[in-house]
Amino acid sequence: MIRTMFARTLFNRTTTSLHLHHSLRCSYSRKMSTETESVVAGIKKAGLFQTKGFIGGKWIDAYDGKTIEVNNPARGDVITSVACMGERETQDAISSAYDAFGHWSKLTAADRSNRLRNWYNSLIEHKEELGQLITLEQGKPLKEAIGEVVYAASFIEFFAEEAKRVYGDIIPSTLPDRRLFVLKQPVGVVGAITPWNFPLAMIARKVGPALACGCTIVIKPSELTPLTALAAAELAHQSGIPPGVLNVVMGDAAKIGTSLVESPQVRKITFTGSTAVGKKLMAGSAETVKKVSLELGGNAPCIIFDDADLEVALKGTLATKFRNTGQTCVCANRVLVQEGIYEKFTSAFSNAVQNLKVGDGFSEGVVQGPLINEAAVLKVESFVQDAVSKGAKVLLGGKRHSLGFTFYEPTVIGDVKNEMLIARQEVFGPVAPVIRFKTEEEAIQIANDTNAGLAAYIFTNSIKRSWRVSEALEYGIVGVNEGLVSTEVAPFGGFKQSGLGREGSKYGLDDYLEIKYVCMGNMA
Ligand code: SIN
Repeated sequence: MIRTMFARTLFNRTTTSLHLHHSLRCSYSRKMSTETESVVAGIKKAGLFQTKGFIGGKWIDAYDGKTIEVNNPARGDVITSVACMGERETQDAISSAYDAFGHWSKLTAADRSNRLRNWYNSLIEHKEELGQLITLEQGKPLKEAIGEVVYAASFIEFFAEEAKRVYGDIIPSTLPDRRLFVLKQPVGVVGAITPWNFPLAMIARKVGPALACGCTIVIKPSELTPLTALAAAELAHQSGIPPGVLNVVMGDAAKIGTSLVESPQVRKITFTGSTAVGKKLMAGSAETVKKVSLELGGNAPCIIFDDADLEVALKGTLATKFRNTGQTCVCANRVLVQEGIYEKFTSAFSNAVQNLKVGDGFSEGVVQGPLINEAAVLKVESFVQDAVSKGAKVLLGGKRHSLGFTFYEPTVIGDVKNEMLIARQEVFGPVAPVIRFKTEEEAIQIANDTNAGLAAYIFTNSIKRSWRVSEALEYGIVGVNEGLVSTEVAPFGGFKQSGLGREGSKYGLDDYLEIKYVCMGNMA
């Protein structure tokens, strides 16, 4: 009963599911273009074009032979078809991970560390091909895609180092003949469900700490972007990660997700994606009392105070808003500008946004790629229409791009109110809604008036204000005079409904560890 209810609701395909946007497929059915063919040929030559699932160290077709198409969002053509897996393949992947756990968790930390380090080296060595795969299936500009590979690899490197620092504790005893200590042990098999917006980095941020601690893992990448995950699995295999330690299954999101969540052998679920899906995973995990880490949606305010350095604020806002064509959960979702600088900022900002070159991520100079699919464009369009119908003004853009497919014009919308849909939900597109405010108190009130609490940004030249406002913001991440804050060495995660747990940094290990207290008596 629970199983059916859960399967029905878990991956209910709605247009509000942000990161797991696999709902409305564009009606792409065109054959591979010659440009796509030549990129694919290069990746094949490097041995990194995999289309089967990876279970127990073997490349496996779906048991019923089903496949699913992977499309290029910029050109509208089919890149390839990959195995469309479901429950049975997931069960086998879980069993492989379960069997591999005994061996992997008992290797020395130094051994696990070396293998992770090898994997890091090979990710960097193949950053061009992996970047091309990301651009091909996700659409982001090639330079940004290669940047994602380096960012992803940094998590593997960082956790290769941290593997050697999983220390326990000795507790001063309350009795003379007792010795008390704390061991940290890997939780076991991890189910990782990852999104399409960062096809490699969101995997690396989960696999790095999991493997470093001694856990084994079953990854379900988004079916929109499985190719990068499969290539990374091939490199992990070549780097000495033993069979069963890292498995990849993709295809039917509902069946795979449900199998991972319901399996008693899976001891932890880690998920990056929409808040709606995250809540369902959390509820489903209650049945087997799994550990859960959730990195969910944001609604980031980017607050520009009158006393900000205009150049710094422009650069930072541009970077946080338009990274990955607005498709990150830490993208500025609301730009709050103080009244004294409002006209000057919006005019300079619109000018800067106008210069962002839109196009196919493989074209020279392009900094804004397509949106992931038609559903994403429809959502952006509906938010813009709603805002305009309620009195907001389009200062720039505001419509689909003449390039067609899923391209949307970089857009700035003024006179937005915090009650509008565009300020309540994640836009996940290249649209900057600008809200005017009068005082610092009002800015904080508007910024915190949301269920989300992932990232926030402030631009000010006052040290006192930067400290005061950072403390007042109900967010897990605050950028002060900086729009790009993500790094492997700092904790990433949110307050309120933006999630649970932290990824990256020394804190990123905690979610993959159990704490065991050992009491040794009669020691006198
Ligand atoms: C995300 O959008 O989920 C991650 C963004 C980041 O790591 O900066």
